[in-house]
Amino acid sequence: MSILITNIKQLLQVHQSNITIVKGSDMNTIPLIENAYVYIENDTIIEYGKMEDYRTIEAETIIDATGKIVLPSWCDSHTHTVYAGNRTSEFVDRINGLTYAEIANKGGGILNSAKTLQDTSEDDLYELAMQRLDELIRMGTGAVEIKTGYGLTVDAELKMLKVIKRIKQESLAKITPTLLAAHAIPEDYRAKKDDYVDLIINELIPKAVDLNIAHYIDVFCEDGYFDIKATERILKAAQKFGLRPKIHVNQFNILGGVELGVKYNALSVDHLEELDTKDIKALKGSETIAVALPGCSYFLSIPYTPARDIINAGLPLAIATDYNPGSAPSGNMNFIVGAACVKLKMSPEEAINAATINGAYAMGISNMYGSITRGKKANLIITKPLNHYSEIPYAFAHNPVEQVIINGRLKDIKNPEEIFRI
Ligand code: NIG
Ligand code: FE
Repeated sequence: MSILITNIKQLLQVHQSNITIVKGSDMNTIPLIENAYVYIENDTIIEYGKMEDYRTIEAETIIDATGKIVLPSWCDSHTHTVYAGNRTSEFVDRINGLTYAEIANKGGGILNSAKTLQDTSEDDLYELAMQRLDELIRMGTGAVEIKTGYGLTVDAELKMLKVIKRIKQESLAKITPTLLAAHAIPEDYRAKKDDYVDLIINELIPKAVDLNIAHYIDVFCEDGYFDIKATERILKAAQKFGLRPKIHVNQFNILGGVELGVKYNALSVDHLEELDTKDIKALKGSETIAVALPGCSYFLSIPYTPARDIINAGLPLAIATDYNPGSAPSGNMNFIVGAACVKLKMSPEEAINAATINGAYAMGISNMYGSITRGKKANLIITKPLNHYSEIPYAFAHNPVEQVIINGRLKDIKNPEEIFRI
């Protein structure tokens, strides 16, 4: 199968030699070619260049992209896409004045989603998540990290992992699974939190590793959830099995989770709505990327991650949706790119870098995804006619996507019959 896209108004994120991350002030540049072509064979980017240098290439499908922008698909490095039910009533409770913490203390929040998920079959969870993924692909997302964490029993967590495995096999999107073993303390363990951590360490992690699905470990390191001691015990146990941390830290409080993440060579530290100079210092010189989740800040009305402090310190930053039923019930990366500009004060170039190559880095896949580079995977967005790529964050929450190439397959997102499954 071969696809040739010609007359592209702007071909974004073009890198001659492969890159895997963009940091600090470099994030303010998006290398691009005006009036470009790109040629794809099977699932791989083979060639690209300026139209003036174009020499005839035989291709099975030719797309004339006059007036349109082509860029790498969004890489959404933090989601909880597998869940059952929704938490609309908690949303209304929050509008009426309750806080996220107050709702959680009443047995709502993550425990509420866990109860529903435990009673939902693997098949139903799979179908629900696949429908969500299809919607994300229509909005330009080509790679998605998916966490467990709504199981809260060994069986239900393993059930979630199996669902994610099926999704990984069946969806055209690139999926990276994460074991969010420690998302909340189940009701029965309220008075004996350490016993739950023991269960995670002695039973859940070894059984999960046997399934060989997830390569990352996540913990919600936060007051009322898992403190630094518990988080460290889990990261240490997971490290023995080769699971690399991608952790929830500093959403409401600074407990020292960033430094701990760096100590365990976390791939990413996510949320960071609260951040201090010690955290920035810890991230410098590390291989850990900061991930901001502006959809969560928007939905919970909590502070936005201080992206400027991170980028101005010379650090890399990724942005992701945090798609989940409690704190961010939207997986729309176009909105996230817009919110990054408006609320995190990022330039369109920084936001696009954060949502493509740096998102891919935060998923551990940036050697093959996140830029237009020869040999990289063909996951691309073809926009509607636009004058400039800045119109993507400008028209916030709109869908700028017209077609996608996902895993080398051309898909018309306006066609309701289109299927995004292998
Ligand atoms: O990333 N903060 C922890 N986990 C999710 C929210 C989960 C939920 O409320 O269901 C998050 O925001
Ligand atoms: Fe999350």
